[in-house]
Amino acid sequence: MTQPTTTLPKHSLLLALAKQYGTPAYVYDKNCILNNLTAYQAAFKHRRHQICYAVKANSNLHILKLLAAAGAGFDIVSIGELQRVIMAGGDPKKTIFSGVGKQLEEIIMALDIGIEAFDIESLPELDTIIQAAEATETIAPISIRFNPNVDAKTHPYISTGLKESKFGLTESQATLAYQRAKDSPWINIVGINMHIGSQITDIDAFANALSEQAAFVKHLTHTLDIKLQHINIGGGIGVCYQDEQPIALDAFAQLVSSTYPDPNITLIMEPGRSIVANAGVLLTEVLYVKSHQDQHFTIVDAGMNDYIRTALYQAYNQISNLGALSDCTIDDYTADDYTADSQQTIPPDTATQQPIEQQPMEQAIVGPVCESGDFFAKKRRLKSQAGDILAIHDVGAYGFVMASNYNTRMRPAEILIDGDEATLIRRRETFEAVIAPELIGDLALESEY
Ligand code: LLP
Repeated sequence: MTQPTTTLPKHSLLLALAKQYGTPAYVYDKNCILNNLTAYQAAFKHRRHQICYAVKANSNLHILKLLAAAGAGFDIVSIGELQRVIMAGGDPKKTIFSGVGKQLEEIIMALDIGIEAFDIESLPELDTIIQAAEATETIAPISIRFNPNVDAKTHPYISTGLKESKFGLTESQATLAYQRAKDSPWINIVGINMHIGSQITDIDAFANALSEQAAFVKHLTHTLDIKLQHINIGGGIGVCYQDEQPIALDAFAQLVSSTYPDPNITLIMEPGRSIVANAGVLLTEVLYVKSHQDQHFTIVDAGMNDYIRTALYQAYNQISNLGALSDCTIDDYTADDYTADSQQTIPPDTATQQPIEQQPMEQAIVGPVCESGDFFAKKRRLKSQAGDILAIHDVGAYGFVMASNYNTRMRPAEILIDGDEATLIRRRETFEAVIAPELIGDLALESEY
């Protein structure tokens, strides 16, 4: 089984949404998200398992609500994310708290709420949890994050399973941590965790990590007589942004199951990117086109503050031109129109499919932010003019969640579509909302806001 491919609604719906809600705007496809979750559930259905969606990938409450209703558990890294999960109807008892820097107040709140497990990242963190559990007279369920020292063969910034990375504990530290946890009356050891990185497309990286983890689990059972209820193997598989071949989920599930054949063990996975990435597009309007010497620029109204993955990780995203906003009236779009054509995918970078001599010139697609790193593509052949709406593909994961107000730009609207229905799931931010926390001191009185 491979991942479902993106099926985005036809251009007219997206254009109508750009017209109605303005740009930049993130648009997500509900059914694509649910299909992605179902693909994991189906691949692991022969085993006791739990798919804990990694909230950090896209934490919009409406998306969490969808996933909670479809049976997902959650992986969180802050008490804020836990609060989101609860608001969205998610089950805290199916929630894993990861992250290297959990604060005491967060630990106490999570203990009080009652989560499935704290994923321990260091010995001092374990000590803090033991103290918090004792002080609140609560038993803390924990798993230890094992760092297998394996190369995930992904971008260095999202590679987390090498010994030089800040995550997890080495084999000897993890042994010490399990011993310490076992000796404490305030701790209930429930599992083991591991996460080697994100956007992994090489199954051998997972195979190497799993074999290290399994050897360590064997050692735990024999030397410390610790029996684990769950094995957490971390984030999900990588996705296709350009021409990557995603790992087949069936092969992946088979690998995990054969590494851990005991049917009483619950297998936990924390996919984020592969649940939401290909379900999202960022709509942006072309403001200007300009050239100097042999350099050509398409300037759009989305910037690196709205989608930072290109600047941060040199990420590649396909980009399509949906056509001129002025050609669209909201009435252009009707349910019939959509249904007739609903399986049509937006052909990405249509220009590149033409013979080379007819293609538009190579250009950079850039944002309005005052930095040269503010671009979405370099040397891209895409025909467009001012007033056109472009769709930046596969931005459902680590898109809006990493947006900022840099350059005092308001963060975009978010819209969820379900077949022919679109729902606004986050209003575009207003200037008033952005500056409100600064309206204190002298300015509290003077401001008209
Ligand atoms: N579990 C843990 C403990 C994680 O640290 C992560 C991601 C996940 C699960 C989800 O992994 P996924 O299934 O999404 O690969 N901002 C970066 C990605 C950072 C990922 C960090 N950890 C990007 O835009 O590429």
